Amino acid sequence: MDLFEFQAKELFVAHGVPSSEGRVTDTAEGAKAIAEEIGKPVMVKAQVKVGGRGKAGGVKYAATPEEAFTHAQNILGLDIKGHIVRKLLVTEAKDIAAEYYLSFLLDRANRTYLAMCSVEGGMEIEEVAATKPDRLARIPVDAVTGVDLAFARSIAEQGHLPAEILDAAAVTIQKLWEVFTAEDATLVEVNPLVRTPDDEILALDGKVTLDGNADFRHPGHAEFADEDATDPLELKAKQHDLNYVKLDGSVGIIGNGAGLVMSTLDVVAYAGEKHGGVRPANFLDIGGGASAEVMAAGLDVILGDDQVRSVFVNVFGGITACDAVANGIVKALEMLGDSATKPLVVRLDGNKVDEGRKILADAAHPLVTSAQTMDEGADKAAQLAAAAK
Ligand SMILES: Nc1ncnc2c1ncn2[C@@H]1O[C@H](COP(=O)(O)OP(=O)(O)O)[C@@H](O)[C@H]1O
Ligand SMILES: [Mg+2]
Repeated sequence: MDLFEFQAKELFVAHGVPSSEGRVTDTAEGAKAIAEEIGKPVMVKAQVKVGGRGKAGGVKYAATPEEAFTHAQNILGLDIKGHIVRKLLVTEAKDIAAEYYLSFLLDRANRTYLAMCSVEGGMEIEEVAATKPDRLARIPVDAVTGVDLAFARSIAEQGHLPAEILDAAAVTIQKLWEVFTAEDATLVEVNPLVRTPDDEILALDGKVTLDGNADFRHPGHAEFADEDATDPLELKAKQHDLNYVKLDGSVGIIGNGAGLVMSTLDVVAYAGEKHGGVRPANFLDIGGGASAEVMAAGLDVILGDDQVRSVFVNVFGGITACDAVANGIVKALEMLGDSATKPLVVRLDGNKVDEGRKILADAAHPLVTSAQTMDEGADKAAQLAAAAK
């Protein structure tokens, strides 16, 4: 999960990283009030999850609360690279002597962590990386030993930060490493990392990506979720603990087990080529316990997708046997009633397959077609989707 700057800074504050004080608002009046509260010149900063806000006119200096009001009016609603500004951070404007760059990230290719540091920070870091790669130090970080003060100092030194500021920089950099590890982040990026005229080192911008796999040990991270931006179907699936990813095709897919669902997507895409190029509409793994409630929740999510024309339920009975799954489908259709309107192709195999197929045959639901094999089911579902176009 990517965080907004103001959320990243909340984590910075929690770990003692020097930053600038501020608050978030979604109105120009609010921006003025925060500026009055701060009582000093402020920066009005667009909160969108994309870089280059400064260049796009989304970061403005305001000497007075009235100026903060005017800037806020101009920035709210601004489109920055396709992101509409709905929130502003109003934060103390700091005096800047120099702007540096610092980041920690997960370097998947090299199976390690990486620190990046440069004396040439600010808005043009991509250009530094492209034109003067030697000015952007890339330093592998051992996951076991991590970053202590001495190592943090060495990161700053390799980034060519001036000698007289290395000790102060080391303290801030070490704390940023603490944010990275303690919060289970895969990215902590600070650009600019600022040197003030009094030689303080502050994080004035912050980009943090949290590792969703570690959410279970950070109950506090749930509040960072940006429900406005999440696809409503994905949100609904998440509320039911379903692993759902929306795709752009028209054949809804339900299966049990990630591997089976992945291969179902392939088989449907392949079968779809014969039917005018129809494609899977989603990935949905209902997991091991395919109870009626889980099946109903899964179907409900998929049928809520306007692009879906047919649904392929592909289940291999294991610990949860096919008869339980078949009962689940029948009950799910009962529960959904009139909201189930799209044809369903069901392929069951594995444990208690005969019992399962019999239950579906006896129910004889008008929307349900049974298939004997995965290929046959995929082909039928693709055909139905194409016919419904
Ligand atoms: N609190 C602040 N005080 C003074 N200047 C700031 C402050 N926040 C940002 N700036 C200036 O605005 C520039 C752009 O802001 P930044 O937060 O880095 O946004 P972005 O990276 O999206 O352009 C910074 O490089 C810095 O010069
Ligand atoms: Mg920045």
